[in-house]
Amino acid sequence: MQTIFRNARPSWRHSRHFLRTVNTQASPDPNPKMTSFGYRDVPEEQKESLVKDVFDSVASKYDLMNDATSFGVHRLWKDDFVSSLRPGRKGPVKCIDVAGGTGDIALRILDYAREKFADRETTVQVVDINGQMLQEGVRRFRKTMYYNTPQISFHEANAQELPPSKFQDNTYDLYTIAFGIRNCTSIPAVLKEAHRVLKPGGTFACLEFSRVDNPLLSTLYDQYSFSVIPLLGTILTGDRESYQYLVESIRKFPPQPQFAKMIRDAGFETGLDADGGAWTNLWGGVACVHTGVKV
Ligand SMILES: C[S@@+](CC[C@H](N)C(=O)[O-])C[C@H]1O[C@@H](n2cnc3c(N)ncnc32)[C@H](O)[C@@H]1O
Repeated sequence: MQTIFRNARPSWRHSRHFLRTVNTQASPDPNPKMTSFGYRDVPEEQKESLVKDVFDSVASKYDLMNDATSFGVHRLWKDDFVSSLRPGRKGPVKCIDVAGGTGDIALRILDYAREKFADRETTVQVVDINGQMLQEGVRRFRKTMYYNTPQISFHEANAQELPPSKFQDNTYDLYTIAFGIRNCTSIPAVLKEAHRVLKPGGTFACLEFSRVDNPLLSTLYDQYSFSVIPLLGTILTGDRESYQYLVESIRKFPPQPQFAKMIRDAGFETGLDADGGAWTNLWGGVACVHTGVKV
């Protein structure tokens, strides 16, 4: 099911902002291609609905859990991510924030452009496959000055196949995706779409959990992730499995050089394969920012 809406209100599914609903039913494949869902292998066609279930389950507590599991550090990483991109420095920019969830990155982009450059014309379209995550985002934006302005809009769509009629070729100056790409079934398909919708010279920027090089830090991080995060998930949301998946999916994500190559293969130019080049590690690689420019 695909639904697209703009400046939606909490009752968005019933509002006039609800624009489109399409149902598709695929027949089962006897020899399905497999992909990872955390540490499990599942048929590719099932991954999207499994991921959707995870975020349906965590949506209402997503922001709280982010703070609890990272002790608020995700906020610093997101601040670093957005300030490294300096949106608005050359004038207003048209941004698309994919897998944008509850709008954390969108809000930072708009705040940064306004606070640093008095820019009230930069726009962000938040795109996510999960309507419940977007609904949380809409709720949050209602309390901001951006709500019901052309600066922000929310759209339900799959990062791997953005509807071309809505998300046209060569349209955006900046494409951001934060903690989202590892949840997608096909990373190359996401990168291909990012390349398609960006203008030549536009920037692709990804913030994602990544690979920690330091063995001591890596061991401590593993112990923390696999014991504390699922436990917090159980205590705060009653859902251990979703948080177990989120941790496992981090370990399955390609390491920095491999992901940088995928970005180049999609047609982007990156810096050299090193920290400070094609990517910038945060906290020794616990998280990492990858950027590329559409050539
Ligand atoms: C961990 S959340 C990150 C949300 C937000 N970017 C942030 O940093 O707080 C991952 C998001 O990716 C979305 N997602 C997963 N697969 C997707 C897909 N194929 N297309 C678009 N969004 C997807 C989920 O619904 C979820 O909202």
